[in-house]
Amino acid sequence: MAIPERFMTNDKGTFGEYTASSRWPIILQNTIDDLTTQQELEKSNTTKFEQAESIKTGLRQFRQDIIDRVRLRPFTEEEIKLANVPLSFNEYLKKHPEANWGDVEWLFSEVYLYRRINVLFQRESGWAEFDIFNRLKQSTFESSFHGVVELALRYENLLPQLKEIGQNSECNDEDLLKVLFKEFIEISLWGNATDLSLLTNATLEEIKSIQGAKARAESESKIVVNDTDEAWGVLTKAKANANGKQIRVDFVLDNSGFELYADLMLAAFLLQSGLATKCIFHAKDIPYMVSDVMLKDFDILVQDLRDRKFFPSGQPSTKESKALDFFAKEMDKFISNGKLEFREDSFWTTDLDYWNLDTKETKFHGSVLHKDLLSSNLVIFKGDLNYRKLTGDRKWPRTTKWETAIGPLATNGITSLSLRTCKADVQVGLPEGLDAKLSQEWEKENPGRGSWWCCSGKWAVICFCSGE
Ligand code: F6P
Ligand code: MG
Repeated sequence: MAIPERFMTNDKGTFGEYTASSRWPIILQNTIDDLTTQQELEKSNTTKFEQAESIKTGLRQFRQDIIDRVRLRPFTEEEIKLANVPLSFNEYLKKHPEANWGDVEWLFSEVYLYRRINVLFQRESGWAEFDIFNRLKQSTFESSFHGVVELALRYENLLPQLKEIGQNSECNDEDLLKVLFKEFIEISLWGNATDLSLLTNATLEEIKSIQGAKARAESESKIVVNDTDEAWGVLTKAKANANGKQIRVDFVLDNSGFELYADLMLAAFLLQSGLATKCIFHAKDIPYMVSDVMLKDFDILVQDLRDRKFFPSGQPSTKESKALDFFAKEMDKFISNGKLEFREDSFWTTDLDYWNLDTKETKFHGSVLHKDLLSSNLVIFKGDLNYRKLTGDRKWPRTTKWETAIGPLATNGITSLSLRTCKADVQVGLPEGLDAKLSQEWEKENPGRGSWWCCSGKWAVICFCSGE
């Protein structure tokens, strides 16, 4: 099968087109507003104040460029040096000199957008370390208080359950552990439904409604491809054959706040159950896609869990406060005994898709990461953007086999699992007829937009590949 083209920002009627024309200007406006808020708070520092003014001028101009569909320009030598911009961006633009905001590959232009924002901040010394999305990340995490407490209580309960399973000699132990495995995979999966970049118009109630056990139970029917059994098979086999050897699970992270918390829940479950002995979390090196995890976001999250003003669960003695403190302590423990490790790499914020996680990509760390990930028993790719990068964000027929859509990753030795709530046009791996059925269903409430069922975040996929 010929490899299809990638989605473009001018593909009529696609979510990509809508994102480029409507959502990006809003995201840019939000960054300007947030910077103004921060600038006001720090206005006694005149140098910083003026620097913020100049960043805002740059952001306003940039927003206008997007609206006016001007050409995407290469990064200058000065910008490359100043902000460590990977040269992949300019290499791409050399090959696509005509690319403009209204007619460019969606994946490239979206990734390029966050680089351009970052360069504006790197230019001003007082703001180089500032995460422009921090305020939004934090306020959304704060508003997920109920879901956070519910999961902390769930985790406290899990430990006696695991102990019981361990002590129970009945032969259904494996089945019980598998039920828990499924539950924690789904916690991590649906944690991805809280994508802050989609919250340009979501209400607080909507944020809350995608969390919580009831929602998860209802949501199982919404997982349209579900390879959980295969991932379970890999980890149970690894556990049975471990003989003291490490069982490593990697997470290529997506969003900060509730999703990171849900991922930590899954990691803690794997570590406590012996299905993994080490979890490595891969974070972004710049503020990215509004909500993505940077290294510092983990420390902030653990602090938030302990902060009773941030999460008002009452006195230290309430069961809610104890559960939050307990989970924070577990995190400290896993970090200090090396079972949980955070890493960052610029590869994750380049424009390169994950067909480049291969020996052949030698310029931007693709081959280095590929070599390292060969030592992992399972690499979990979280979220929608990672799914787009896995599939190249191409116009595959929706029944295309997963192994076809992920290219080299199907055979280059990495065992992978994609946990994605569907928020973009690309969709593969569906059985014949399902796309038409879901499109019809979505069309009823969203006339003219039936095929956007897979951009709504209401459905999800769990896709496994052995890499052999
Ligand atoms: O589809 C909307 C969108 O903002 C895309 O631009 C991007 O792929 C994705 O959502 C980000 O979602 P996630 O945080 O799940 O990767
Ligand atoms: Mg994200």
